[in-house]
Amino acid sequence: MSTCPIDTRVIRPIRFLAGQCQMLDQRLLPAEEVWHSYTTYQEIAEAISTMVVRGAPAIGVAAAIGAWFGARDIETESSWDFYQEFEKICAVLVATRPTAVNLSWALERMKHFAESNLDRSVLELKIGLEYEALAITQEDEKINRMMGQHGEPLLVDGARVLTHCNAGALATAGYGTALGVIRAAVEAGKNISVIADETRPFLQGARLTAWELQRENIPVTLICDNMAGYLMSKGEIDCVIVGADRIAANGDVANKIGTYTVAVLAKEHNIPFYVAAPVSTIDLSLNDGSLIPIEERDEREITHIKDIQLAPKGISVRNPAFDVTPSRLITAIITEHGIVTGDYRAGLDQIVKHR
Ligand code: MRU
Repeated sequence: MSTCPIDTRVIRPIRFLAGQCQMLDQRLLPAEEVWHSYTTYQEIAEAISTMVVRGAPAIGVAAAIGAWFGARDIETESSWDFYQEFEKICAVLVATRPTAVNLSWALERMKHFAESNLDRSVLELKIGLEYEALAITQEDEKINRMMGQHGEPLLVDGARVLTHCNAGALATAGYGTALGVIRAAVEAGKNISVIADETRPFLQGARLTAWELQRENIPVTLICDNMAGYLMSKGEIDCVIVGADRIAANGDVANKIGTYTVAVLAKEHNIPFYVAAPVSTIDLSLNDGSLIPIEERDEREITHIKDIQLAPKGISVRNPAFDVTPSRLITAIITEHGIVTGDYRAGLDQIVKHR
């Protein structure tokens, strides 16, 4: 892995061109904009688990690129042996983070390509897998822009929109899911202002959402997570829009820890609560949200800020990184193929299977 200084205004946190991959180190934002270059699947796996790259669609894209790096380096003439090795590489990548289903979705797509082309040469498989990884990367931004078009009519001119975590360009290949809907509303000429929850403990709201909106001059106000209820009670929030890491068949949504709390508060105050996510985030194999695996992260994220210790040594800590919002609290789910509301089980099934 090497470091290279590049900066553009359009945020695309993963650059994948001509067999090269660079990723913006999201752990260092907003203080430093550092890009790293990657050449092996082990480096990509490390980047996902240490959160250089994060956000459900972005880790799917990164994993697809990592799978291709692994495939490229397999040395065999036998397509069958190649596939056996490729499966092992995908198993390493899929184990990096458990909650966002986009990771396994992207790797399944890569494996499916290889498995259904086993009559081809190893060279052809490698070329095809590079093409597939490139397609997954390029399709992601297109999908987000489609989601934006479907979702922006939900945001009225002048809307004050609360968001939690970062479901922006940084969490995708570009444009964002929840922030993509906000971008589309701004592009449609509406005055939209954003209230960003800081999102303890990893501070995706304070560090990432605030950074990416500010650099595009979209009005954004940062609050601590525990202030959302107060602002809602004062009539200062018109709707909530968040992303998702996995959506179960009944519409229950796993997203960044704290999302459930915001949804309960929104219900109490009669404020619409929207989720924006691509079809690749919908997991029809899980009947409901209780089956979604929830990642528990290092206790140091809570006891320390950088190297400063905040809590007493030896304190018992829980650090679930995600929670599940029951579908009854969700006003609508916005996808690239349209909006689902009401009967989520039927609506999501229709969107996944019949588009
Ligand atoms: O732990 P993270 O930063 O990967 O969690 C990200 C989120 O929870 C996002 O809200 C979600 O992935 C949707 S991103 C379009």
